[in-house]
Amino acid sequence: MNLQVLIAPDRRAPLPAPLIVVEDVAKRFVDGRTGRVTAALEHLSFAIREGEFVCLLGPSDCGKSSVLDLLCGFEQPTEGRIVVEGGPVGEPGPDRGIVFQEALLFPWLSVFDNITFAPRLAGVPAALYRPRAARLIALMGLDGFENHAPYELSGGMRQRVAIARAWISEPRILLMDEPFGALDAQTRLAMQEQLLIAREATGATVLFVTHDIEEALFLADRILVLSGRPGRVAREIAVPFGRPRHYEALLTDARFGRLKRQIVEELRAG
Ligand SMILES: Nc1ncnc2c1ncn2[C@@H]1O[C@H](COP(=O)(O)OP(=O)(O)O)[C@@H](O)[C@H]1O
Ligand SMILES: [Mg+2]
Repeated sequence: MNLQVLIAPDRRAPLPAPLIVVEDVAKRFVDGRTGRVTAALEHLSFAIREGEFVCLLGPSDCGKSSVLDLLCGFEQPTEGRIVVEGGPVGEPGPDRGIVFQEALLFPWLSVFDNITFAPRLAGVPAALYRPRAARLIALMGLDGFENHAPYELSGGMRQRVAIARAWISEPRILLMDEPFGALDAQTRLAMQEQLLIAREATGATVLFVTHDIEEALFLADRILVLSGRPGRVAREIAVPFGRPRHYEALLTDARFGRLKRQIVEELRAG
């Protein structure tokens, strides 16, 4: 028997290259009229490995959405380097699914047509996207609502449709910008649980932006706490809770309260 394998399996396995690398990035916006410069991000560096669930946590206005804009390719960094899947960030594409705070569904399309919009636009054969759509509809708890219009759905359901729509192209990376921020506490918890289940089933890499400490602790493998603007990573926290996670169990776990307090202090210090 090869004891080395039993003793130190991690040392033998080569670490895979990170899927996302952000290296010393600065993002400044210049107001075209007044010439005033807003520094949104400064010296921002982090890396995300395949399959990780990382939360970007910070106060509002610290540059969280700007980070996602850069990773989507909507904006270019003023300084520094961003590598996604081994190359520079290209045009926004289906390899990176995006979910925003507002569901932004097409109001005139049914749930099914919203979810399958991208593959239909790309001319993917129905035989390919139909089973994927059916699986996502089941995973997101939307069975029976395929033919409903967005206005017939609750806010939480609309957001589940938006997540299914982002996931239909099987993106390796899912970028989420405070997707549950507008939902009431109960719905938010149900959505968080559904997201964890769907993510377990698909193995996607997730970068999830939030200002909610408990949400980050419940969801993430790792939390990047951002400083106040201009944002940079002030602190990195490896979340010690195993999976599957149960919210009630976390509430009675002493580490949960300890970590929450540490993060509150970190955010207060700015
Ligand atoms: N396209 C833009 N043009 C000018 N200023 C911007 C733009 N996007 C963001 N900003 C500014 O950058 C700062 C950070 O914004 P944002 O990334 O949206 O923060 P957060 O998502 O953490 O609330 C804000 O002060 C905002 O006004
Ligand atoms: Mg934002």
